Amino acid sequence: MSTVQVFDHPLIQHKLSILRDEQTDVMEFRELISEIAMLMCYDATRDLQTEEIEIKTPVAVAKAKRLAGKKIAIVPILRAGLGMVHGMLTLIPSAKVGHIGLYRDPDTLEPVEYYCKMPADITERDVIVVDPMLATGGSASAACDFLKNKYGVKHIKLMSIIAAPEGIEAMQKAHPDVDIYVAAKDSHLNDHGYIVPGLGDAGDRIFGTK
Ligand code: PRP
Ligand code: URA
Repeated sequence: MSTVQVFDHPLIQHKLSILRDEQTDVMEFRELISEIAMLMCYDATRDLQTEEIEIKTPVAVAKAKRLAGKKIAIVPILRAGLGMVHGMLTLIPSAKVGHIGLYRDPDTLEPVEYYCKMPADITERDVIVVDPMLATGGSASAACDFLKNKYGVKHIKLMSIIAAPEGIEAMQKAHPDVDIYVAAKDSHLNDHGYIVPGLGDAGDRIFGTK
């Protein structure tokens, strides 16, 4: 069974409170999504492999560490996942970025794919799927299906800012190998598939489309 890590760091929680506030405007919302993604990325990558190297400082030779192991790809689920990419790339500038476009059918809440473009070497990379909202889990689960079945990706992590218990359960059932990182686990989904209390429609709030 996959692990679920809820980041209770005070900086993340403080920023999340402002993010949830309906009074927060588009510009600040966008900045906060990016900052929270960066802070979450810092801890979600704690298990990256390193190797020991020797570096000559101006004073002496130092034993130091650098990243080794598989390279990373960040895969935002469009649209809202795009808001997290800049923050992730701030910490992992060498990561490549693949895009997967999914929207939820408003009636069935089922994810519908409309775009996909992955780095050519995606199969060899460890993937972090990013999407601020894990609601029913349909979109994240479909993205993982896609990465595994179409591209042969072996190792995936999912990073979402707010998750509903229903989405976590669905993801763990469909993808027990995918560890999940969130800043908050909220109460439940409402009848329209929105997370309660959540923050509303993440895509609309990032891009100002409502
Ligand atoms: C939102 C969100 C997720 C999805 C989560 O996207 O960004 O991708 O819903 O819901 P789920 O867990 O029930 O699948 P939406 O479909 O609103 O598209 P958008 O990002 O283009 O606004
Ligand atoms: N997508 C969103 O943007 N918000 C929710 O609460 C659920 C799905």
